[in-house]
Amino acid sequence: MNKISIIGAGMTGATAAHWLAERELADLVLVDVVEGMPQGKALDMAEAMPIIGKDVEIVGTNDYAATKNSDIIIITAGIARKPGMSRDDLLKTNADIVGKAATETLKYSPDAIFIVLTNPLDTMAYLTMRMTKLPRERVIGQAGVLDSARMRAFVAMESGVSVENIQCYVLGGHGDKMVPLTRQSNIAGISLKDYLPADKLEAIVNRTRKGGGEIVNLLKTGSAYYAPSAACAQMAEAILKDKHLIVPCAAHMEGEYGLKDMFFGVPVQLGRKGIERIIEYKLDADEKAALDKSAASVKETHDALKNLVTL
Ligand SMILES: NC(=O)c1ccc[n+]([C@@H]2O[C@H](COP(=O)([O-])OP(=O)(O)OC[C@H]3O[C@@H](n4cnc5c(N)ncnc54)[C@H](O)[C@@H]3O)[C@@H](O)[C@H]2O)c1
Repeated sequence: MNKISIIGAGMTGATAAHWLAERELADLVLVDVVEGMPQGKALDMAEAMPIIGKDVEIVGTNDYAATKNSDIIIITAGIARKPGMSRDDLLKTNADIVGKAATETLKYSPDAIFIVLTNPLDTMAYLTMRMTKLPRERVIGQAGVLDSARMRAFVAMESGVSVENIQCYVLGGHGDKMVPLTRQSNIAGISLKDYLPADKLEAIVNRTRKGGGEIVNLLKTGSAYYAPSAACAQMAEAILKDKHLIVPCAAHMEGEYGLKDMFFGVPVQLGRKGIERIIEYKLDADEKAALDKSAASVKETHDALKNLVTL
């Protein structure tokens, strides 16, 4: 059995464990600083396994030693965004938490692939790669699967077509300047630009960009966790099953899209080694300008991190 350790057993981490257990993909370890909480959630979930008929071992702990020999480490530890709080406000606190989670888990699982969720996402993934010194194949940020799924859901609501027929590609940083690509996104092969009236499409693009905030405002405390954790489970499955699945994820840029030394949301192919390939779309001038704007904003947060932490 494969092994996945999830650092941070809060809303996103525990729900990721739930989706992963449903898929019977791997034994699971939940790590958190709060005493008793990961143990309680893990035991509760383990007691559900006979009901859903899945042979998955689920352990909750406050000790990183239990993560030994994990194939995948998922980092969701951190502080969640509160109403009115930007993702970038979270920078300092979460940098300390994520830095420790990454270096501690690497000691016990030197061959693991890291999936990072903690916000500000692109910068926390960058921090993870710098602190672990892993090759870019093995550090992946979750943002694009979620942002694209939100757009797919909104297109389905508008068009009345099955979500299975709808493919959307949201690139760029995981923030309000993300870039939902309307030309490449499609319903059964028909570009959204041809399928939906311009005003409806624009409303979908705007709602996608503000998708995280919409949920924060509704929940009042905490942020979205069902869809983010489902996104995470899909990425882990693509890796462990060596699916060669192409999905938008945050990856370390080494010249792609004209970007370097930063994490950014682009279409990547995921397989057993992690990132197998980065796909470069041929963008038109407007799309390129939107991506550059998003990249500038991500770069700003990376620079802010470099002022706070020695990498
Ligand atoms: N990338 C994305 O798409 C995405 C989506 C949802 C949430 N997030 C981010 O993920 C993070 C977690 O969100 P959440 O809703 O699960 O929050 P949450 O508060 O429910 O859970 C966070 C957990 O981290 C734990 N934690 C704090 N410090 C820790 C440490 N040093 N070691 C281990 N665990 C520690 C907390 O005790 C808590 O249980 C936030 O930063 C949030 O913004 C990102």
